[in-house]
Amino acid sequence: MIIGCPKEIKNNENRVALTPGGTLDLVRRGHEVLIQQGAGANSGYTDEEYIESGATIVPDIEGVYARAETIVKVKEPIEYEYKLVREGQLLFTYFHFASSRPLTEAMVNSKAICLAYETVTGPKNSLPLLVPMSEVAGRMAVQEGAKYLEKPAGGRGILLGGVAGVPPARVLILGAGIVGTEAAKMAAGLRANVTIMDINLDRLRHLADTLPANVTMVFSNEYNIRRELPRTDLIIGAVLIPGAKAPHLITRQMLGEMRDGTVVIDVAVDQGGCIETCHPTTHEDPTYVVDGVIHYCVANMPGAVPFTSTLALTNATFPYLLQIADKGWERATAENEGLRAGLNIVRGEIVLPEVAEAFGMPVAS
Ligand SMILES: NC(=O)c1ccc[n+]([C@@H]2O[C@H](COP(=O)([O-])OP(=O)(O)OC[C@H]3O[C@@H](n4cnc5c(N)ncnc54)[C@H](O)[C@@H]3O)[C@@H](O)[C@H]2O)c1
Repeated sequence: MIIGCPKEIKNNENRVALTPGGTLDLVRRGHEVLIQQGAGANSGYTDEEYIESGATIVPDIEGVYARAETIVKVKEPIEYEYKLVREGQLLFTYFHFASSRPLTEAMVNSKAICLAYETVTGPKNSLPLLVPMSEVAGRMAVQEGAKYLEKPAGGRGILLGGVAGVPPARVLILGAGIVGTEAAKMAAGLRANVTIMDINLDRLRHLADTLPANVTMVFSNEYNIRRELPRTDLIIGAVLIPGAKAPHLITRQMLGEMRDGTVVIDVAVDQGGCIETCHPTTHEDPTYVVDGVIHYCVANMPGAVPFTSTLALTNATFPYLLQIADKGWERATAENEGLRAGLNIVRGEIVLPEVAEAFGMPVAS
């Protein structure tokens, strides 16, 4: 199979969907790999490394789309790429169709096969291709929070871990899923005083057994959140109700109960955010202040740490790409139920009901 990997052209997207290591494995199994010139540069991979692994370097994006049977990417195609996608071509990438009608219509019209990372399922209905990015964002949330708590960055001027004789900062994490747990581990490791809240008691029980003693598990409700706000330095929003908008656990009025210079990192911004005053920002201009509270609401946090994110992502996606390359997408999805769940659009027909419902479009039976 001919597999093509274009350079990401979305703003500030530095990841690449295929590493030289993955390229080597594909080439050894008899596949042809086309890499767009410079595709791996921002993740630390040179064209020479891909060539050594057996790839062909293609000078432009048009050349990759024109020849590849399968395109492997990180983010959804942007408008410039719509016309490059060919009928019958397989695209394996994050799409998040429900958030964009133009993208959905363009992919329907292209008659390509769209296999979306975000809907591939694993055991117990897990989403194995979303988990690694949640891990990155959760860990990064504490790093970013620590930075913006510093005075020159506008924060209160407090060190997360304190020092001997000086108490540490207080961190409140809303949601104890993948993002929340990774954030709790990092904040606890830096010796902050951490409170993590969730409505899932089993999850809280599990974390009570596994997280260190400087993390307190608390049931999430308005009363308990309000009690924490006046004494919290850093808040991390990590709530998810699958398929729904995130609930606003902190309203605008509640900001008044927080101290000036408190930092909020709302990782759940891609689902609308769990703080009412959250709106998406970019890595170029990540923060804004409302009522004295610093808001960091970057919707693609992992894009800032591409060396880590590319490996975390490709470790998870590559086994699926191998199946697609070795068997062809039709057999691979027929034999692997979890991979089949990734099919969103097939040759002009929407096959995932959630995508069709989002735009009142028909779903293929
Ligand atoms: N901004 C970014 O770059 C970025 C990157 C990765 C993930 N995310 C987003 O972060 C969010 C969390 O992702 P995840 O993988 O941790 O999800 P997850 O499903 O693993 O965890 C979500 C948790 O929220 C809990 N929850 C639901 N309602 C709650 C409530 N009222 N109070 C407290 N907890 C509640 C759930 O019980 C669950 O444990 C998602 O919106 C995800 O898309 C953003």
